[in-house]
Amino acid sequence: MANTLLNINIDHVATIRNARNTIFPDPVQAAFIAEQAGANGITVHLREDRRHINERDIKILRQTIQTNLNLEISANEIMINTACLLKPDYCCLVPENRMEITTEHGIDLVKEYKKIDKLINILHNNNIKVSLFIDPIIEQIEIAAKLNTDYIELNTGNYAVLSKCYNDKFYVELDNIRQAASFATSLGLLVNAGHGLNYYNVAPIIQLNQIKILHIGHSIISQSVIYGLKYAVEQMLKIIRML
Ligand code: PXP
Repeated sequence: MANTLLNINIDHVATIRNARNTIFPDPVQAAFIAEQAGANGITVHLREDRRHINERDIKILRQTIQTNLNLEISANEIMINTACLLKPDYCCLVPENRMEITTEHGIDLVKEYKKIDKLINILHNNNIKVSLFIDPIIEQIEIAAKLNTDYIELNTGNYAVLSKCYNDKFYVELDNIRQAASFATSLGLLVNAGHGLNYYNVAPIIQLNQIKILHIGHSIISQSVIYGLKYAVEQMLKIIRML
């Protein structure tokens, strides 16, 4: 049995809530259920436009979750200051672009070395562990190892897109992730992975035997909507038939 851990990203519970400006479904309740089901931790992405998770969610999660809280944020000082107030256990620095539907690539540590170095220090001074979301590229790993980061998270987004057709490019990308993960491990980095992973494409990533924690959101929340639907309809019919 693999000893890979699973963090659940609950952002899209908040997406459904925010679609109607209601108070349900509540990501806090989702986090509780995910923990009860065995999740290693809870991941949330506080986006600059607050399109799903918001400060209220994170403040309550901070008080209620019993595993650990991983906050993904854009790598800039405003968001880092917000993180220092919210006090997650881990902060994963990601690049962010307001127009994107979801995170599109990893941080470019070549271009952003100085800034990231400074942000890592601020987070460490606030007792928050740091992870850097980067693409599976050897040069990025080399630079990550020079920074005082606690983890890296390899971006599996491109792998996930290619997993729809399992062609040569898919196997090249899987090999990029394998090489990046083993190189990072050889340099003493702890390696996580995430983005776009689902029930069909996750197995080869686990079988690399190098990944400590998987961060998965959209596919698991989607699955819960589909598999919870029968129960939800039956509950409503029970009310109707009682009257
Ligand atoms: N890891 C990072 C850095 C992310 O930005 C996201 C999406 O917020 C995830 C993992 C989870 O991706 P998905 O929702 O596609 O599973």
